[in-house]
Amino acid sequence: MNEYNSLPADFTWGVATAAYQIEGAVAEDGRSPSIWDTFSHLPGKIDNADNGDVACDHYHRWREDIGLMKQLGVDAYRFSVAWPRVVPGGDGPVNEKGLAFYDRLVDGLLEAGITPFPTLYHWDLPQTLQDRGGWPARETAEHFAEYAAVVARRLGDRVKDWTTLNEPLCSSWIGHLEGRMAPGLTDITAAVRASYHLHLGHGLATQAVRAAVPGARVGIVNNLSPCEAATEREEDRAAAVRADGHTNRWWLDPIHGRGYPQDMVDLYGVRLPVRAGDLDTIATPLDWLGVNYYFRNVVTDDPTGPPPHAKQVYLPGARRTAMDWEVNADGLENILLRVANEYGARKIYVTENGAAYPDVVRADGSVDDPERVQYLDEHLAACARAARRGAPLAGYFAWSLLDNFEWAYGYDKRFGLVHVDYATQRRTVKSSGHRYADIVRSTRGRGRKAA
Ligand code: IFM
Repeated sequence: MNEYNSLPADFTWGVATAAYQIEGAVAEDGRSPSIWDTFSHLPGKIDNADNGDVACDHYHRWREDIGLMKQLGVDAYRFSVAWPRVVPGGDGPVNEKGLAFYDRLVDGLLEAGITPFPTLYHWDLPQTLQDRGGWPARETAEHFAEYAAVVARRLGDRVKDWTTLNEPLCSSWIGHLEGRMAPGLTDITAAVRASYHLHLGHGLATQAVRAAVPGARVGIVNNLSPCEAATEREEDRAAAVRADGHTNRWWLDPIHGRGYPQDMVDLYGVRLPVRAGDLDTIATPLDWLGVNYYFRNVVTDDPTGPPPHAKQVYLPGARRTAMDWEVNADGLENILLRVANEYGARKIYVTENGAAYPDVVRADGSVDDPERVQYLDEHLAACARAARRGAPLAGYFAWSLLDNFEWAYGYDKRFGLVHVDYATQRRTVKSSGHRYADIVRSTRGRGRKAA
């Protein structure tokens, strides 16, 4: 018996990337700077002073990259659209050349038999909107919906699967509270307001895409982690509840019509800028929910740390990736079951999952990455277990197709199924890529038939 038989027969096998991490060509064809261009050029913000100026040069090599996807045999490609390419001013005039790039990409994917799964926002806010207040300002949410409508009207005759936001947690908490990502602020008020307007923008954009695209299937992508107390101490158990609020409930409750969790509103101590009707907009029904899963979060109480006053620790014996993230595939099974059972998700995609390891190119040019192969096997087995236990899992997207610009960590952290030699832009499928291709091939059409 194939161990993936619990997955539906029409399960979507995919790979994922994001615009700023792979495209390069930052000043080409009318693209304007995003907050990540600004941030990555600030001294000391990015390891090795790396930036996304060239990245994987995907803007010019997209045909070759579609060829790699064909080689892997995937059904779908999750990529993001760069807002500053399409509407360089943030609002106002549309840049035809920017739109044309995604037009070509979509056509190329469809010719290759690969379903396009665009994400409208993967962190590259036009700098001009940041200068006018960024996500802490309500106008940004409104402009996001206008931009979403532009992209949807252009691609919607061919694209039906749409994602509004990728990981608003990172945009809000890491970008506005911890300062480790663009725009690099450390301000709880800005962070809470940003999270609220990201949610509002998600709701407005969902409605805009549906208005433009008959038959659109729209979802949002959250990065979720089970949060567990490191000990039985009362203080650590309370810290785990706060960490769960910060990591999971703040992002899941409002989009499911439950409003914002009161314990966290009290903890942050920031008034939410709610206007009449907003909470309904934020809770616009989803066609599917995207889960990005990387690690479990084991915490202890940290009264002097930033909100949520919980510190991530490692239990003895924990395996870790090059990001220092704990390898814990059971966490994926748990989180999939939680969004199904507690939030009633009717269709779930694992929209990202993967691991960074320090890959080495061997003398014969091959890249053998047994740890990533094991990570993949363990996490796919967790998906199959969750499906067997009733989670309505519709697809899995490996992060990432290519090694790429890993934000503040620069190019040192490699997540790809395909290795990129940045000096030559040579792509080499790693052992994990071959393994993924084998799994896709061996499971295609074999799974559970719809009841
Ligand atoms: O590279 C990122 C991606 O942009 C968002 N999700 C997590 C990945 C690994 O850190």
